[in-house]
Amino acid sequence: MSKQNVYILGIESSCDDTAAAVIHNGKILSNMIASQKIHEMYGGVVPELASRAHQQNIVPVVAQALAKANISKDQLQAIAFTRGPGLMGSLLVGTSFAKSIAYGLNIPLIDVNHMQAHILAHFIDEEGLNKPPFPFLAMTISGGHTQIVKVENYFDMKVIGETIDDAVGEAFDKSGKILGLGYPAGPEIDRRAALGSPKAFKFTKPKVDGLNFSFSGLKTAILYFIQKETKANKNFIEENLNDICASIQYTIIGILMDKLKLASKQTGIKHIAIGGGVSANSGIRQALKDSEQKFGWTSYVPKFEFTTDNAAMIAMVGYLKFLESDFSEQNVTASARLKI
Ligand code: KG4
Ligand code: ZN
Repeated sequence: MSKQNVYILGIESSCDDTAAAVIHNGKILSNMIASQKIHEMYGGVVPELASRAHQQNIVPVVAQALAKANISKDQLQAIAFTRGPGLMGSLLVGTSFAKSIAYGLNIPLIDVNHMQAHILAHFIDEEGLNKPPFPFLAMTISGGHTQIVKVENYFDMKVIGETIDDAVGEAFDKSGKILGLGYPAGPEIDRRAALGSPKAFKFTKPKVDGLNFSFSGLKTAILYFIQKETKANKNFIEENLNDICASIQYTIIGILMDKLKLASKQTGIKHIAIGGGVSANSGIRQALKDSEQKFGWTSYVPKFEFTTDNAAMIAMVGYLKFLESDFSEQNVTASARLKI
């Protein structure tokens, strides 16, 4: 099998985005995504609705990815898909679909761990962006994950810290819900935070040993704070919204940065990569930039389209595994709690 001129289709369906991408060697030719609007009205992802929407979206999204890449399906050398972790009903759609096309085209099937993919997205060829050298620390922060991973090599990774309850994106989204903001609230809190004072209100940071995170206490603290203040002044939220958002964001960034600093100190690693939807946050980006000066770190942030849930990262891992001839059998199954 030639490894010179490799086209791989990547499929991602672990949560509420149906995505497909084509990679040619290390370069992304197309990266298509169908986001499911339906969850907005419920203020969070509804698993059964997500699974149904994946079934509707997957065929057109794959067709668009092939069309945009300007290749026919017969040019594909392998199909890579997200095996887990994620919502079982969602994963099953991508897994079954990937198996069928690989079988139909008689080409290898490659299973991909979604969390490894968020990290290996840093190796997609992107103009003007440097790839992190090994070893590096990767912090994946999104609505579904919060982890710090020590990355020794492409497939030699160790989770050294993770959330014991909510993900950091949930901390943004649930705080936003308390404030009456729409879902997901992260981008709106970020926007308002820029207009407010980060030290207007103080929220205590959770005390969690080592490199693990906890965000559920913060959510409760915010809820009680808002209940108390609105009892005294029913217009408290609207009169102080920007300051509240700035203070919440400041607290969350503080929690993330404290753990990153500790991880860097414990491992001696100063190459720091971030990924996941929350890495779009301007506060965390600024904090990382400041750390370059303060602690001599080098930070790595991929292009936004490769950092939220996407199939380009799945195709990238597919390519790396293809080079190693690391293929899956047709009896591979989706795994909702797959570990790194
Ligand atoms: O990676 P992602 O698109 O999907 C998964 O959850 O896997 O991440 C979505 C999360 C949401 O919680 C959203 O509120 C958060 O990322 N987010 C942000 C920002 N943009 C997206 N949080 C804070 N600031 C942002 N600018
Ligand atoms: Zn993700």
